[in-house]
Amino acid sequence: MRKRTIGSRALCLTLSALLLLGCLAGCGRPSPAPRDQTRRNGALATGARVSGQRSFDEGWRFFRGEVGEAAQPGFDDSSWRILDLPHDFSIEGPYDGHSPGGYDGGALNGGVGWYRKIFSLSPQSSQRVFALRFDGVYMNSDVWLNGQHLGNHPYGYTSFEYDLTRRVKTDGSPNVLAVRVENKQPSSRWYSGSGIYRHVWLIERHPIHVEPWETAITTPSVEAALARVSLRTQVRNDRDTPATVTITSAVRDDIGQDLSSRSTRHELPAHAALGLAHGHDLAAPRLWSIASPALYTLRVSVWLDGAEVDAFESPFGIRTARFDPDQGFFLNGERVKLQGVCMHHDLGALGAAINERALERQLEILKSFGTNAIRTSHNPPAPELLDLCDRMGLLVMDEAFDCWRTGKTANDYHLYFDAWAETDIKSMVRRDRNHPSVVLWSIGNEIPDSEKAEGVPIAKQLIGWVREQDSTRPITIAENKMGNAYARTIAGLVDVVGYNYFPWRIDPDHQEHRLWKILGSETSSAVRSRGVYHLPLNQNILSHSDQQCSSYDNSVVGWGNSAEESWHFDRDRLFMAGEFIWTGFDYLGEPTPYGWPAKSSYFGIVDTAGFPKDIYYFYQSQWTKKPMVHLLPHWNWQPGKIIPVIAYSNADEVELFLNDRSLGTRAFAVGGTRLEWAVPFEPGTLRAVAYLQGAVVATDEVRTAGDPARLELLADRPAIRADGRDLLFVEARVVDAHGVRVPSADHRIQFEVQGEGRLIAVDNGNPISLEPYQASQRRAFSGKALAIVQSTGRPGPISIRAWSTEGGTNLAAGKPASTDSAETSLGNIAERALDGDLTSRWCAADGNPGHHFRVDLGSAQKIEASKIVWERQAKLYRYAIDASPNGTSWTRVVDKTQHSDATQIQWDPWSATARHVRVTVTGLDQGAWASIWELQLLGSLTPLTSNRLTIEALPRFLGTEPLPPS
Ligand code: GAL
Repeated sequence: MRKRTIGSRALCLTLSALLLLGCLAGCGRPSPAPRDQTRRNGALATGARVSGQRSFDEGWRFFRGEVGEAAQPGFDDSSWRILDLPHDFSIEGPYDGHSPGGYDGGALNGGVGWYRKIFSLSPQSSQRVFALRFDGVYMNSDVWLNGQHLGNHPYGYTSFEYDLTRRVKTDGSPNVLAVRVENKQPSSRWYSGSGIYRHVWLIERHPIHVEPWETAITTPSVEAALARVSLRTQVRNDRDTPATVTITSAVRDDIGQDLSSRSTRHELPAHAALGLAHGHDLAAPRLWSIASPALYTLRVSVWLDGAEVDAFESPFGIRTARFDPDQGFFLNGERVKLQGVCMHHDLGALGAAINERALERQLEILKSFGTNAIRTSHNPPAPELLDLCDRMGLLVMDEAFDCWRTGKTANDYHLYFDAWAETDIKSMVRRDRNHPSVVLWSIGNEIPDSEKAEGVPIAKQLIGWVREQDSTRPITIAENKMGNAYARTIAGLVDVVGYNYFPWRIDPDHQEHRLWKILGSETSSAVRSRGVYHLPLNQNILSHSDQQCSSYDNSVVGWGNSAEESWHFDRDRLFMAGEFIWTGFDYLGEPTPYGWPAKSSYFGIVDTAGFPKDIYYFYQSQWTKKPMVHLLPHWNWQPGKIIPVIAYSNADEVELFLNDRSLGTRAFAVGGTRLEWAVPFEPGTLRAVAYLQGAVVATDEVRTAGDPARLELLADRPAIRADGRDLLFVEARVVDAHGVRVPSADHRIQFEVQGEGRLIAVDNGNPISLEPYQASQRRAFSGKALAIVQSTGRPGPISIRAWSTEGGTNLAAGKPASTDSAETSLGNIAERALDGDLTSRWCAADGNPGHHFRVDLGSAQKIEASKIVWERQAKLYRYAIDASPNGTSWTRVVDKTQHSDATQIQWDPWSATARHVRVTVTGLDQGAWASIWELQLLGSLTPLTSNRLTIEALPRFLGTEPLPPS
């Protein structure tokens, strides 16, 4: 079966005469009416499109697991689930501590999945040609049409296409498409997702048509007065007879007006392809830039007997981009520091299934702290990412591989590299080369082969394949072994040398190789959990027994640097083109420095839910100009405790006030990027006032929160599109009576959605939460949780509310505690579990079961529930709770000696009137000691309720039709 991987077509005879022709007077054709090119968020293609391209996402059947005969057309799939693509079956869970992908794979299993779809084509289609395009299937997919095997595509991250012509039935009878995917884990070093996780397209075309992936749009000369746009394309005649065709190309502006058009006539032999070129001159071009990403559209049409029979449209931009060995990177002649972030492809709670709005939100958040570049680590992205970057003014390093011939995990791409590398890398370049956002191709990340002799010819080959498809963009490699001679040889072959970590190598290399153009392809790898602070401040605390990381920028992996150090290094070197921080968002998998039950990463500037961590504001202070100041940490501590307070700001000076008393003004030292105070805690308000040349330009404050009183819901937008795809992101906050977020709140929040929306996922950004993403409830983490609501497809109001049954008064707060055993040498005494501080705990003095912990409430109180935050996942600790009026006669109210709940927080509803409560550890797993961060005894249980949020799903907006053929 002929398979097209956006690569060369084996059977086609290419007439390679590239005819660069001007407009032939009189052969231009009237163009169809302009169409809206600025569609947002929809399921349809927003970027390049061909006529007759339609979404093939709807109405599939799915089965998770192996099925013998499912490829056969007669197979009965009526019991299978019905779903729409894109779909990721791994995210459906459950978590598995023994997953073959491990916690690096997000502790979510892969395996085999089958998809089937039945469709029919009307007899009018019989003269047409058909192709089926998959934007990405993870992984090792096999596709059958009516029982006939169309092909196998191993790499889970590249797009590919099958020609269905003459195989598909066009007599109105059913066609059966079957797709088997197999994600044999471990297959990526991060969470990959599994299944048909990107869009699928059916393309029905005239037999004489433009080849989209043979179409390259370049801008060989860009001046303020004039830009030359060059189009190279290929037109194919799949008919049995020759044809005389007119090929028109037109450049349009963003409102659909033709600025330039060219037409040429060609004789097309039967079953042949013709390569051709058109040039366009545009006067006073609007340049594509970060601040103003102006886009044009190029439309290529095929005209036969006076009718337009086929067309291809692609947005493009006019810009120049170059790297310089002494001065870094230039866009349109202006020096720009790449303020980049690395991003894996998952969308947090949505898994790997592509959703344009989720992706757009990620990019909006990244831009809001000054990101101007994305590295698609470590694989080609969904095409929609590049469409969005084109539109939003983000630069992209498009990366091909995480390994070549030598693998990093048992089942990764090394198994396929020799057979597939050429196809896959060319596929990436051919698909992505018309995007103005793409400014660099990366041939790989930390490639094990690059430190071997055979790595050098492989690198040469990959570079050659990329250049063959696109000679306009530089090529890089993200290298972490620059001490190795072969790696240095490869560095000399690429156009831009990407350093992963080890910045101390850079200055000597810059001296030694004055022509190397250098950037930090991957930097920092600092880790942090939102709202968690570990002390001491000036010591690197990589790991902690709470399995969280510190937000003070004092938690860094051995091969990394703090956010501040990495930025200082980059900022202070003119020759550095910039850096790509590891990472913009937390991603699923790779929970360095921890293992199970941690299952998502800590590296993000933003957590998986899209909530900024403190370091977000550090980058905002360095990467943006709008005046801002941010204070950390939160302001709920034990009175008298000395709290390091930090301010990030882009102003000159910041004055700190505690309960309206000035604690002094601090100015940034030369090159300094944080201000620091040591403040003895007292409850109230800590306020930062930022001054620029003496004038107040920004303020921020943190306030001591009281008891949780209610939930507050906030939506990311006032309305969404009623297209069945668009998403609303709803943030839930646990707040006190004055609306102050309770920083330690971990209430389980139940969401309810009514009207024209459905709740599709929840999250809280906690890397060790083992709650499922596809659920209607989620614990808050550091006082926040997220609900993701999707349009039903119908217009109308969507109403959301939330509540938590865990509201109530904590009767145990600050009460006297006692125990039979405490690790006093580390200060882990009983009272620490009642101090409301999630960074201090009670721990027994040894790992034996039987130790207990007691609270004296002072008088008999009505208790309705208890909440224990165990040091680690609760499964390690079996326990019982007893209550007593007098401390001598005890009644057992909870017995969890047999439980196996993995989550760290244990909520037990029970009822007793008691003065004394005792928690006894009745069993322990090997290696665990009885250890509790916090115990709460709840009385007067009253649900916390939220405001009701109502937002509108608006009718699908016009202009979303597929490109008409004529
Ligand atoms: C790098 C690697 C990334 C990620 C990171 C974590 O070396 O390229 O994929 O693993 O380390 O620090």
